[in-house]
Amino acid sequence: MNIISQNCQTSPASIPVPGENSRIRKVLIVGGAGYIGGAVVPHLLQSGFGVRDLDLLVYGHENVVLTKLQQPNYDFLFGDMGDRETLERALADVTDVVLLAGLVGDPITGKYPQAAREINDLSLMRCIETLNGKGLDRVIFVSTCSNYGLIAENQTADEEFALNPLSLYAKAKVQCERHLLSLRGKVDYSPVVLRFATAFGLAPRMRFDLTVNEFTRDLFLDKELLVYDAHTWRPYCHVRDFARLIETVLLAPSETIAFELFNAGSDANNHTKQNIVDLVQSMLPNRRVAYRENSSDPRNYRVNFAKLNRIFGFECQYSVEDGIREIIWALKNHLLDDVDTRRNFHGNYDLVRTKAEQA
Ligand SMILES: NC(=O)c1ccc[n+]([C@@H]2O[C@H](COP(=O)([O-])OP(=O)(O)OC[C@H]3O[C@@H](n4cnc5c(N)ncnc54)[C@H](O)[C@@H]3O)[C@@H](O)[C@H]2O)c1
Repeated sequence: MNIISQNCQTSPASIPVPGENSRIRKVLIVGGAGYIGGAVVPHLLQSGFGVRDLDLLVYGHENVVLTKLQQPNYDFLFGDMGDRETLERALADVTDVVLLAGLVGDPITGKYPQAAREINDLSLMRCIETLNGKGLDRVIFVSTCSNYGLIAENQTADEEFALNPLSLYAKAKVQCERHLLSLRGKVDYSPVVLRFATAFGLAPRMRFDLTVNEFTRDLFLDKELLVYDAHTWRPYCHVRDFARLIETVLLAPSETIAFELFNAGSDANNHTKQNIVDLVQSMLPNRRVAYRENSSDPRNYRVNFAKLNRIFGFECQYSVEDGIREIIWALKNHLLDDVDTRRNFHGNYDLVRTKAEQA
């Protein structure tokens, strides 16, 4: 472990000198302290990668970092990905970058539109500008299937499907995807875009503002679950499958991933909200569910993941049922007793900072 403070130029022991051990790839995870990063960071460490985590800790979720500090090939840097000096420091000795950071989700970007523009548009673009010329191998940009927005009931969206981003969140993702994929011949690394399905499953920083996790929590706690637009479809994917996919992309031959875009998830995990309620209720019977129509979120999309399987032979290992089961297990075993009292730790609800100097 190494903690790089704002004022320290490099961290001494754990960063391999380039060339000293050419087998170690050191991956900078930007936004690695978040929900999905909580699965990606340990997975890459376990697979033998070095990992540096750069995160602005916008929800005050710093203690997830403390749990990783004993890992030998891990270091953490606090800061804003859009701050050039911070990012230059974070990039020292790094071979690859995974971009997870941002204000994630329609509700948080709708609640803080100015911060969303600053982070998801400006900071991210500044970050991407800084990545060129650093001798990086690949840069993985994590985008979202939300970019498909609202599509006809009888269709599924493959990577060529017309985009229909409906929120500030998805509009910024589409803009960034297009920008990265337009850089052919202009940058010295291979960018790849992964459009993630909606995540579920256990991780050190949970997000209970996501459908599978939220429905399971509410029904476990015997609250009345309010479900809007139960017929609407979405694809889902376990955070540990995302972690395995990131590793797959890091290890794939460069020509199969450079300037490519992949939907990330599995066809079998396309579900309606009603399916998810039914799955949770099959494990937690006799709970209360109320239904409403015409919410402010019109998204409804089913996604085709054939390309992921064709190019990498990648299959998701976890079903939505698996995710529900493990969350119920964690709740029953008192691992999430603070789920209501520490609301902001467990979801993207309120920002505690949007800039490094406010820390
Ligand atoms: N969770 C999902 O269902 C889902 C679905 C599709 C795509 N994605 C994408 O996956 C990525 C990770 O999502 P998540 O669910 O882990 O979200 P999250 O909100 O839990 O994590 C985002 C992290 O980014 C950090 N961050 C925010 N602004 C920053 C900045 N300026 N500099 C450095 N760090 C900053 C936050 O502190 C946080 O730790 C995002 O890019 C998201 O768009 C997520």
